[in-house]
Amino acid sequence: MGMSTERDAAADAGEGNDRDRDRSHDHSDGRDQVRDLEERSRDRALEGRVVLVAGASSGMGRATALALAAAGASLTLAARGEEGLAAVAATARREGAAEPLAVPTDATDRAAAGRLVAAAVGRFGRVDALVATVGTNIPRRTLGELTEASWAEMVAINLSAAFNLTQAVVPALREGGGGQIVYVSSSAAKRPDASGVAYQATKAGVVGLAHGTMEEERAHGIRTTVVFPGLTDTPMVLKRPTPTPPETLALALQPEDVAAAILFVLRLPARAHVPELLLYPSRL
Ligand SMILES: NC(=O)c1ccc[n+]([C@@H]2O[C@H](COP(=O)([O-])OP(=O)(O)OC[C@H]3O[C@@H](n4cnc5c(N)ncnc54)[C@H](OP(=O)(O)O)[C@@H]3O)[C@@H](O)[C@H]2O)c1
Repeated sequence: MGMSTERDAAADAGEGNDRDRDRSHDHSDGRDQVRDLEERSRDRALEGRVVLVAGASSGMGRATALALAAAGASLTLAARGEEGLAAVAATARREGAAEPLAVPTDATDRAAAGRLVAAAVGRFGRVDALVATVGTNIPRRTLGELTEASWAEMVAINLSAAFNLTQAVVPALREGGGGQIVYVSSSAAKRPDASGVAYQATKAGVVGLAHGTMEEERAHGIRTTVVFPGLTDTPMVLKRPTPTPPETLALALQPEDVAAAILFVLRLPARAHVPELLLYPSRL
């Protein structure tokens, strides 16, 4: 991340605070708040920031990619499914991303994670930030139901993918003088729930990966953040063993809420570090 980008980010953060102060005097309803958030993400605050979003084809990763596009970031988008990724890249282009790069990638494959980062550097010359939202859950998730294979799959997708991406991106971040990694863990790593032992164990593992990386890389200007969302209305919810009641889903976070939290972190100046950010549905 270049110095001017950091200065711009600092100025923008200050500007946002002023606007927040102004807003505290009015009586805007929820819709106004959503509009405000959209406006803020459209102010090109991340113009030219080179961001790699892994897990970008759906849910939170998709919403983050589109918010980043509107904020002017240069995007590299990754997920396994080529079609979904191409659709998000096309929408990101319409939202304002100059030439988003879509790289179909299985992040559980170490070599593929390396190729992904190399493609981003090849296109944009550097990487300033990684947003790692890759993750999944399985219906047969209780201790009794897990098998060696399903446990291994959960570890691979929820934890090893984040490790592969981290190890691949850190040299590129160092090369650029520093940068950020934002990991999406889950509220399941903060307050035990019925998401299953493999989900809770792997999501807790991401926390160790993030904090350990921060301690090792802080001197190189790298900052890591873990976001812990609660229930969010995305396709992943369909993987629950029993359907989530519509009245519960109506109270869930929207993927755009998580995207807004991630953009908040990415907009902070290099001197500011958010180790953890908890984001829960207020009524669940
Ligand atoms: N939804 C919730 O209630 C909730 C709550 C807390 C935390 N989370 C976490 O939030 C993150 C995003 O989840 P979401 O709800 O947005 O789910 P989602 O809509 O299912 O999105 C998951 C994304 O990860 C990608 N992905 C999965 N396996 C991959 C792999 N091996 N390599 C590369 N990409 C892969 C998927 O694309 P492909 O399948 O095409 O690869 C997709 O783009 C996950 O880490 C999840 O655990 C979700």
